[in-house]
Amino acid sequence: MNQIRFDGRVVVVTGAGNGLGRAYALEFARRGAQVVVNDLGGSGHGEGQSATAADLVVAQIRSAGGQAVANYDSVEFGERIIETALDNYSRVDVVINNAGILRDSSFAKMTDTDWQLIYRVHVDGAYKVTKAAWATMREQGFGRIIFTTSAAGLYGNFGQANYSSAKSALLGLGRTLAIEGARNNIYSNVIAPIAGSRLTETIWPEEVLKATSPDYVVPLAIKLCAEDSTENGGVFEVGASWFAKVRTERSKGVAFGIENVVSAEQVAERWSDICDFGESEPAEDVLSTFNAVGRMVGIDLLATKK
Ligand code: NAI
Repeated sequence: MNQIRFDGRVVVVTGAGNGLGRAYALEFARRGAQVVVNDLGGSGHGEGQSATAADLVVAQIRSAGGQAVANYDSVEFGERIIETALDNYSRVDVVINNAGILRDSSFAKMTDTDWQLIYRVHVDGAYKVTKAAWATMREQGFGRIIFTTSAAGLYGNFGQANYSSAKSALLGLGRTLAIEGARNNIYSNVIAPIAGSRLTETIWPEEVLKATSPDYVVPLAIKLCAEDSTENGGVFEVGASWFAKVRTERSKGVAFGIENVVSAEQVAERWSDICDFGESEPAEDVLSTFNAVGRMVGIDLLATKK
């Protein structure tokens, strides 16, 4: 197989001063990309800022013969990050929405600040950066975008109401942009990484941190952003050299018939059938929902007013 290369491609990696972002930036540069290394340089809780984190990664890329430029803005000002790409390299081909912080707390103790900061960085940040790149990608007829969710975003997690709901928002954003971008060769995918980093170093022992090096996540991002990759709208779990695709499953369900008034008691009576995955199917898009209703009830939700 030919090596995946990014010569002539401009790659923006947000939060590229540490952890996963740094690993992505180094590898894209090694494969010929011109990289915008964005990092605000704050703490894992979203406090403070510093140019050091981004500068160190840029220096590392340049000393290995690669091309990179630093940007120190918060992703909340995504347009400035994309401006850095356009001013320096005149294109933007790949956006890796990776910057992130944690403000974990049980829902009972969560403050409005904990909630809002998480939304500003993860949701508004990914929106701003991607929105600023979108028009250029459409003009180019090429774009590859990665959104970073989390197992918490896919499944929910104790102490992470803010983070998991923000990460779920990225799932919706990524999958919608996959639909809207497809005809312009702009493909969006969503990844839920598992990686030893400063966000996880206080939880995991040394051997787990080593086994979950960010380097094990990087190949997925490279593959998804390759020029000839046709994967679009996918959701992946990845870490410790494990790569897997996630999908939603729909039970066959129970339709009572629209000629009947359905009571809560009838629903309760058939509860185990409603929740039975024996005859389940992948639930991939809105159309599949409409088709399921059509099949089960016999009405066409795709019909329009004459
Ligand atoms: P990290 O803390 O090592 O790196 C995140 C980087 O983002 C930091 O360098 C930080 O300065 C930067 N950053 C934070 N806020 C920023 C902002 N407003 N603007 C620009 N840069 C900002 O964290 P890690 O583990 O590498 O996480 C990367 C992404 O992966 C995050 O979105 C995180 O939520 C996600 N993730 C990580 C998991 C893990 O196991 N490490 C699990 C699931 C998701």
